[in-house]
Amino acid sequence: MIVFSGQNSKELAAKIVRGGFAEGKVERKTFPDGELYLRVATNVKGKECVVVASTTSNDDLVELLLLLDALNDQGAERIIAVVPYLAYARQDKAFLEGEALSAKTVVKLVSGLCDEILTFNCHFLDKEGKEKYQSVEVNNLDAFPILAKHFQEELKDPILIAPDKGSLEYAKTAAERMGCDFDNLSKTRVSSEEVEYEQKDLDVNGRDVLILDDIISTGGTIIRASEFIRKQSPSSINVGCVHGVFARGTEGLKKAVDSLVCTDTIQRPESKVSVSDQIIEELKK
Ligand code: R5P
Repeated sequence: MIVFSGQNSKELAAKIVRGGFAEGKVERKTFPDGELYLRVATNVKGKECVVVASTTSNDDLVELLLLLDALNDQGAERIIAVVPYLAYARQDKAFLEGEALSAKTVVKLVSGLCDEILTFNCHFLDKEGKEKYQSVEVNNLDAFPILAKHFQEELKDPILIAPDKGSLEYAKTAAERMGCDFDNLSKTRVSSEEVEYEQKDLDVNGRDVLILDDIISTGGTIIRASEFIRKQSPSSINVGCVHGVFARGTEGLKKAVDSLVCTDTIQRPESKVSVSDQIIEELKK
């Protein structure tokens, strides 16, 4: 199996290669108008190939599509697209007539160029495993347990709180595995940046709170949830997320919480937990 990497997933891909795979070489450049050029510089004819590429921007997405198609053109036998963070996954329903169903478009494009898509805590799927979305099968891995394990080693008697419906099932399962208390909040999204919480009494007084979420994008969810919980006098508020999109940076978030950790589905300074072992295990199955 030969592992290729997207420009922004090099660290994660290197960890996977160290798990016992060959490294594929890609030559890249950007044309003066911003368009991407790439060339597969490893012989892949008849070989099984893996492309590790999180898609955090439109350029990342185009790069992934070009790389997958080039591997097809070069005669790769089987191609697995490991897209730890899948772009556009949150626009998975059309709320207004005429809206582009972006998640479907992206899944259609990627799946048309590979044999399997492997991702983590995909927004349009609420459980782990091989799940279908718009008739395309996606292998959805769950990184909540490794986040929970990280915090279990740091916090005494934590209570795990899911900040919304999107993370409820994953967080509940993680709390069961940790053997710790669990609760959840009811969130209403007012706009893409604003959320509101329904009043609720929580058993957090003097305790370490752990909030686990799939994605932190603007940070609005976590900042509001922390303000809400803080009023009920916890000893600390600790936050873990799978995908640290951090579209507004982390300054506001770090003021609102006592600790912030994400995985390396997107490489960030806060990526203290790696999904590499889960990917390696899945690739070796
Ligand atoms: C929503 O269902 C997700 O679980 C996240 O809570 C949400 O995407 C976070 O977005 P933001 O950081 O912009 O509030």
